[in-house]
Amino acid sequence: MPRYAITTFGCQMNVHDSERMHEVLRGAGYVETEENAEADVILLNTCSVREKAEQKLLSEVGRLAKLKRAKPDLVLVVAGCVAQQEGEKLLARSSAIDLVVGPDQIPEIPGLLGEVSTGGLPVVRTVFDADAPRFLTALSVVEGSATAFVTTMKGCDERCSFCIVPTTRGPERYRSSASIVSEIAALTERGVREVTLLGQTVNSYRDPDDALPKDDGAGPEESQFAALLRRIAERAPGLVRLRYTSPHPRHFGPALIRAHKEIEILARHVHLPVQSGSDRILKRMIRRTTRASYLERVAILRREVPGVTLSTDIIVGFPGETEADFAETLSLVEEAGFLGVFGFKYSQRPGTPALRLEDDVSEAEKSARLSRLFEVSERLIASHLATLVGSRQRVLIEGVRRNDKNGAQGELRASGRTERNEIVHIHDPAAIGLTGEVVDVTIEKAFKHSLLGVLDSATASRGRERAGALPKTKRTLPLLSEGA
Ligand code: SAH
Ligand code: F3S
Repeated sequence: MPRYAITTFGCQMNVHDSERMHEVLRGAGYVETEENAEADVILLNTCSVREKAEQKLLSEVGRLAKLKRAKPDLVLVVAGCVAQQEGEKLLARSSAIDLVVGPDQIPEIPGLLGEVSTGGLPVVRTVFDADAPRFLTALSVVEGSATAFVTTMKGCDERCSFCIVPTTRGPERYRSSASIVSEIAALTERGVREVTLLGQTVNSYRDPDDALPKDDGAGPEESQFAALLRRIAERAPGLVRLRYTSPHPRHFGPALIRAHKEIEILARHVHLPVQSGSDRILKRMIRRTTRASYLERVAILRREVPGVTLSTDIIVGFPGETEADFAETLSLVEEAGFLGVFGFKYSQRPGTPALRLEDDVSEAEKSARLSRLFEVSERLIASHLATLVGSRQRVLIEGVRRNDKNGAQGELRASGRTERNEIVHIHDPAAIGLTGEVVDVTIEKAFKHSLLGVLDSATASRGRERAGALPKTKRTLPLLSEGA
């Protein structure tokens, strides 16, 4: 049987797209290998959101071209956002590439592999499925997992001036609420306990089948997203936690805040990208929100949902960003009290409106601002985590995760998250036997981005009994709170 290996770059959407590639390839009789050297087909699922991500792909292609010289039958596939963005041009950049497929061509991959591996010319397919959007599942991939992603929409209709996503992922297309609910039900039957709904502006959701109630109090700017969350909570009884990423602040209104207050399984954590704290820069970014409206929504959310935690995305060094603008970003980080900042240096992306603005903040200044941003956010998270030492937290055990580098020398430990998204490692490795359960953990220690705790003795021994009967899990969970 032919063997394949997938390398994934980029965001959670890409992680999920790779899961779907596994599903279609397995369905077509391919077997996974984790070693590129053993593979007959190597797929690179690429990211083009920042320049650095794109460069990573090109150096990986260079390495694989060498492998291919030694093994000429090897098929090299470039999928994902760089594939969508560059298309044919990629073939000119490297003769090692056999197949270029965009994010909407995943179901076609096995057929296209058939074409190229029988000696056909390289193939490029990058058409969006705009008229009949397809939403693939990845049910076979969740075996033994407590958590899973579920797509609610594809593409993005916002035109943030820095962002390539509308080009690489196409226009917004929504999935029906019935199909979302039935995928979640199928996942919970397979043992999944937590679902993260995915979408580029996940809270602009509209049901294409119009099957959700309209009277949920959503204002004119709001969508049917809150109604979708309620529908999921009602119809997926096996689900213990529901998350979503990423909402756009512009659609974050009263109905969604009320959903947070009323839906018990909805996590008390929101990742709400802000990008900048300066109105001048927000305007140039075409974010269609202001500092004041962002902070006002955060204040209402905090009032209505006590203890809710927030994380965000921030770009530093956007064209025209002055020291004063950046100082406003730092003060917004403090004011909003983010416990998790994904910070990025601005980089110019092909075809984006911001190309018309001069990229006038020097690389050195961008790096300096990024470090200053992380200093503030690390301080906020460290002081928050320190307050939890000695407390008891309800943790959904997710599997094994490599411990915080700054903690216990990067050991593998059973770990999970609280509903507020704090990562908790557990002393006793037998806690892995409790994967998928929500357990009480007493917090003993705070690391830089995570916590360490112990189970009470009855829970620990239950974990030990179950651990013996478990299949070995291959997947190591990523650390979540690290900026890039
Ligand atoms: N709406 C999407 C955003 C995708 S891009 C989502 O929430 O999943 C993810 C993040 O990358 C953005 O929030 C932004 O902070 C950052 N980003 C996007 N384009 C960028 C660019 N040109 N330079 C630097 N950072 C960028
Ligand atoms: Fe990008 Fe803005 Fe959409 S960041 S994905 S254009 S909401």
